[in-house]
Amino acid sequence: MSKQTVLVTGGAGYIGSHACIELLEAEYQVVVVDNLSNSKPESLRRVERITDKSLQFYEADIRDKQALAAIFNRESITAVMHFAGLKAVGESCAQPLNYYHNNVYGTLVLAEAMSEANVKQLVFSSSATVYGESASVQYAEDFPLGAINPYGRSKFMIEEILRDLSAADSVIGAQSPWKIALLRYFNPIGAHESGLIGEDPNGIPNNLMPYVSQVAIGKLEQLSVFGDDYPTHDGTGVRDYIHVVDLVKGHLKALDVLQSEKFESGGCKAYNLGTGRGYSVLEIIKTFETVTGRKVDYKIAPRRAGDLAECFANPELAYKELGWKAEKNLDDMIADTWNWQCQNPQGYV
Ligand code: NAD
Ligand code: WQD
Repeated sequence: MSKQTVLVTGGAGYIGSHACIELLEAEYQVVVVDNLSNSKPESLRRVERITDKSLQFYEADIRDKQALAAIFNRESITAVMHFAGLKAVGESCAQPLNYYHNNVYGTLVLAEAMSEANVKQLVFSSSATVYGESASVQYAEDFPLGAINPYGRSKFMIEEILRDLSAADSVIGAQSPWKIALLRYFNPIGAHESGLIGEDPNGIPNNLMPYVSQVAIGKLEQLSVFGDDYPTHDGTGVRDYIHVVDLVKGHLKALDVLQSEKFESGGCKAYNLGTGRGYSVLEIIKTFETVTGRKVDYKIAPRRAGDLAECFANPELAYKELGWKAEKNLDDMIADTWNWQCQNPQGYV
């Protein structure tokens, strides 16, 4: 027998498409809403091919309240995984209104539509970028927040809105309270082991791993390593890379917990999704070369504005409360990235 129906916003995108696979494989019914502003419907066809199951796709914008209301009317949705949004830090500095409109206003409309449909379980894609400056480079959920660019602030604002929404339940004595998980991702990389779905960035990638793999395959000439004078063990930036399949498994665990007695009286809680260990840019390049047997040509370039030296997760809370921890190692992440890259050198064309 099929489990409940989950609405996946942004389900055609990189992380959302992997979440669809995990949900379908766990026997959930899946409904996707995506405006395809940063994705192609081919990803969803491949999700169906991998799982041999079908999903319901609506091409719509989450800011379109009528479209959302119609979806909630037609489908028996019990929970939402909310991935839809814009995510490029540099672009957000040039187009702040677009980012706040898409991400913040989009989430407001979604939350209103959910409220009207009495669907109050929400798993939200937040980001480690919501953390402010801190004494430790291993971030725990109770560290001070304080994003430094419009993209990060849009995530921070959404978190605040969702915390307020949940807090209002006790003020109004809500019958069915909101149950919300704010999942703060560190650096998702990798792809489904089939190599059929993966990250398909538009134009020149901003993020390290897609850049490295496009250099390795010959699409890009050379990687610029942004700074080698950071106070890290080899001078280059250190991040907590997490396999996208591990990441989406965390979403299913969060959904289980929202539906358990732990959340019986509702709540809104943040969880880090990371491995708890950091790798430097040079370690990534070296491991990439070992795993794939390909050379990654690089040069040392100036630091990128806004970059931290080092940042990784304290993932203990997710382990303790969600029963989740990342299983895949850096070799797996790189092997799966490379498999996707080789099978789809031009992405989803
Ligand atoms: P993505 O761009 O591949 O996926 C986002 C999807 O949302 C796309 O398919 C896009 O078409 C869709 N979308 C955007 N605006 C929409 C709107 N208004 N209405 C409907 N659909 C819309 O990005 P991703 O890497 O899969 O990221 C998913 C979520 O995770 C985002 O919210 C992102 O901010 C968050 N996140 C990503 C990372 C990362 O490094 N990839 C890290 C932390 C958090
Ligand atoms: C990783 C490391 C770079 C590219 C960003 C967003 C963050 C989150 C994930 C959504 C850093 C270095 C990179 C390159 C390089 N997204 N680098 N050359 O900066 O940790 O996080 O993506 O929430 O909000 O800011 O990830 O992959 O861009 O960089 O040397 O061409 O690789 O300096 O040390 P980052 P990244």
